[in-house]
Amino acid sequence: MKVKMWLVALLLISVTQMHAEDSALQAVLSQNGLQKASELGTSWLQNHIGRTTLPEVRGKVDIGIGSVEYVLHDMSIQSCVLPVPSVAFSKGTGVSLQVSGISISVRGLWNLHFGIINDDGWFELDVYAISLNTVLQLGSEEEHVSISTVVCSADVGSVHVNFHGGASFIYQPFVDMFSNRIRNEIRAKICPAFQQGIGGLESHLAAMPVAVKMGSYVYMNVSLTESPLIKSTGLELNVKGEFYSITSPSEPPFFPKYFEVPWREDYMVSLGASEFCVNSAAYAFLSAGVLQILITDDMIPKASPIHLNTSQFGILIPQLPKKYPNMPMQVQLYASETPLFSFNKTVINVHLLASAKAFAIGPDSAAIPLFRLDVESSISAKAYTDKQLLKGVLEMKNFTMTLGSTEIGDFPIGPIEGMMKFAVTTLVLPKVNALLKDGIMVPFVTGYNISNSVMTIENGFVAIAADISVP
Ligand SMILES: *[C@@H]1O[C@H](CO)[C@@H](O)[C@H](O)[C@H]1NC(C)=O
Ligand SMILES: *[C@@H]1O[C@H](CO)[C@@H](O)[C@H](O)[C@H]1NC(C)=O
Ligand SMILES: *[C@@H]1O[C@H](CO)[C@@H](O)[C@H](O)[C@H]1NC(C)=O
Ligand SMILES: *[C@@H]1O[C@H](CO)[C@@H](O)[C@H](O)[C@H]1NC(C)=O
Ligand SMILES: *[C@@H]1O[C@H](CO)[C@@H](O)[C@H](O)[C@H]1NC(C)=O
Repeated sequence: MKVKMWLVALLLISVTQMHAEDSALQAVLSQNGLQKASELGTSWLQNHIGRTTLPEVRGKVDIGIGSVEYVLHDMSIQSCVLPVPSVAFSKGTGVSLQVSGISISVRGLWNLHFGIINDDGWFELDVYAISLNTVLQLGSEEEHVSISTVVCSADVGSVHVNFHGGASFIYQPFVDMFSNRIRNEIRAKICPAFQQGIGGLESHLAAMPVAVKMGSYVYMNVSLTESPLIKSTGLELNVKGEFYSITSPSEPPFFPKYFEVPWREDYMVSLGASEFCVNSAAYAFLSAGVLQILITDDMIPKASPIHLNTSQFGILIPQLPKKYPNMPMQVQLYASETPLFSFNKTVINVHLLASAKAFAIGPDSAAIPLFRLDVESSISAKAYTDKQLLKGVLEMKNFTMTLGSTEIGDFPIGPIEGMMKFAVTTLVLPKVNALLKDGIMVPFVTGYNISNSVMTIENGFVAIAADISVP
């Protein structure tokens, strides 16, 4: 019997492991990050709470000689003191949140009805020392982050209500008498209101698209591959992180590999992107038909010693000007396979397979195919981040060229290969390196800045740890 149970358990484990998809993108929020999120959330709430309109309150109070019906309406929050909650991860569950010392001032209008008496006026309501103690559970629901309230308790220190207008001098003593009851009613409303707010957040999360457009050609699938992992020191999200072409989405001929982003608890957030994430982007761009360019002579600077025309190419290919004298040329350069990135402790290697198709442009503007050159190259890059800038150095490791096909007969490829190699190493790479030395702005969520950041290239993935600041 016991053996059978073990077998079933093993079977279940292997089945679930077969189903679990490896994530290509991982994000970790540390305790520092959670505290920052708590501060940002509080200041957002503080800025928005003034615009909240409160629902009207209707009730009846029995004052011994009958009951008074009242309506409190047109209530608005005049001021609010919101201390930053203390937040902590609750292992395996989510986040616990505690706050005390909240106070709120509300102003509104009152109407009451007692027998044949109708009266109205305005009032001030001050609620002091509200405290809230809650635990939020984080999970995943249909590949989204889900959030719900599992524990909530609230308390209210004291309540002051002042009625003005009408015959309020008559009611005020009753209000003072009932202030304890008012306090209890307010206390009973806090958790339901909080839960309603979290419910709103949950529906917002559920409605968020899993396909996030990145520019006009590709999108990233950001569905969760498993439930958020919550330890006492942080929270980890495992995201599919696969790119697809918007117009022709398809799966690449390679698979994600398991990796684990290191938790940097001294930074607010840590992010890890695997080779698969980057390579799926390259594949998506290739599928979208973006990795190609048509080079025409007017793209080449006037001062360049080399121009795209058949006379000039006669130096390299003697038979070309004899067959097609003095014609402009065009070159279609394209990636023939997905450029493959690999991360190997401190170094990024890129393996490129590209082809260049050359055409002569005849007098009737017809493109006459001449030949195709196939290029295989590997480039290695050292990259690092400095503040919000991505910096690095590129180096060409290998560059080989072969004649893929020709419509003008064979010709020696050595001189062209030498020229291209020269052009790439002396013209292209130094320009790119100069750009990389100054740094490229790391794209990040607008409105937030990365203040400290460190990027490391690990085996199979790249990791970035950063602090977020609000300018
Ligand atoms: C995203 O990936 C998930 C899991 O593989 C899949 O169920 C979902 O259909 C994908 N969505 C899109 C828009 O690619
Ligand atoms: C080809 O280039 C040479 C040198 O730049 C120039 O003299 C010639 O006019 C060009 N021919 C065409 C057809 O562009
Ligand atoms: C990483 O690079 C080192 C040397 O630079 C090499 O010996 C090693 O095989 C490489 N590892 C992988 C996985 O490519
Ligand atoms: C350069 O590429 C060629 C052709 O793929 C290969 O034979 C050679 O080993 C490569 N050299 C280096 C240094 O990677
Ligand atoms: C934040 O980034 C903006 C540019 O996006 C920059 O002008 C500003 O100085 C940065 N602020 C901080 C605090 O780094």
